[in-house]
Amino acid sequence: MKGGGGGGFRLFFLSSGNSRRIPLRLRQLPAGSSFKIKLLLFWCVAFALLLVLILLLLLCCRPSHYSGSSPPPGRGYTIVMNTWKRNDLLKQSVVHYASCVGVESIRIVWSEPDRPSDSLRHALWEAAQLNCKSCNGIELKFDINEEDSLNNRFKEIMDIKTDAIFSIDDDVLFPCTSVELAFSVWQSAPTAMVGFVPRMHWPDKVKENKERYRYGGWWSVWWTGTYSMVLSKAAFFHKKYLHLYTNHMPVSIRHYVTEHRNCEDIAMSFLVANVTGAPPIWVQGRMFEIGSSGISSMGGHSERRSQCLDLFAEIYGHMPLVATSTKVIDSRHSWFW
Ligand SMILES: *[C@@H]1O[C@H](CO)[C@@H](O)[C@H](O)[C@H]1NC(C)=O
Repeated sequence: MKGGGGGGFRLFFLSSGNSRRIPLRLRQLPAGSSFKIKLLLFWCVAFALLLVLILLLLLCCRPSHYSGSSPPPGRGYTIVMNTWKRNDLLKQSVVHYASCVGVESIRIVWSEPDRPSDSLRHALWEAAQLNCKSCNGIELKFDINEEDSLNNRFKEIMDIKTDAIFSIDDDVLFPCTSVELAFSVWQSAPTAMVGFVPRMHWPDKVKENKERYRYGGWWSVWWTGTYSMVLSKAAFFHKKYLHLYTNHMPVSIRHYVTEHRNCEDIAMSFLVANVTGAPPIWVQGRMFEIGSSGISSMGGHSERRSQCLDLFAEIYGHMPLVATSTKVIDSRHSWFW
């Protein structure tokens, strides 16, 4: 209440002081200067209008170098979509991503006991063809798994035609402009994991002579600007990592992931970091969650993730994850610096 009173007082003071003084001064000025002041005002207004016009031009008419140009066959990317008993979300996701430039193929990782119905197959196929812009048809395939394991999402795909994989959950949508930006970043750094959802491993107290880690969720990344993983629920990576995950990663990690139904994304982050010795790349993107709740909304999530960090580091014999504070943004959307 006090603040409001002060503001009112100041306003009163300004209006009473200025309205009396300015006309007085104007009257005292010689006739020519009234014209000069009008001219000055005119220039001020003109300048402001010009600024607004330039901003509008920048906002709406900045050319997009992505528009319409799809890469030659084999140089685009394959979407590997993980789904689980949510056909409506799956349809929505396929419809959306089929409209992005550069998608050559959509592979659906299917781990449900019942095979996908013909009507679902047909509906998805149609959605993929309808929405596909400037392309010769998007391939759409189901990869059927007998066993229900979170490792399925990283199973090696033999007949994959692109080097780039965009791994995505069926319940998150990113605008095509964000996906295309991330893809162009991946093209510059094809050994890196490039994604939208950053996470961090924080060193914790040493217990029993072993390094311990604490899993840092979104808030800690937001607060510190530091991360060491990007989650595979929305990330680009090279197809060779599927091969390494399935055939060369320590078996004990794959077993842990199947048993605990968790941490397959941390396992992939460890694998890539151990190969490259470099951090992943976080790309700014707006995320739209279309499902309701995932694993992360369940209790005890971050303790279980911390356990994975400790265990995997023990299996590797060291902590391969590398932290960084770099973030990629679309320069067409940064105006002033
Ligand atoms: C990590 O990388 C090193 C060096 O490239 C390699 O020898 C080792 O087998 C890798 N560790 C795991 C667990 O994959």
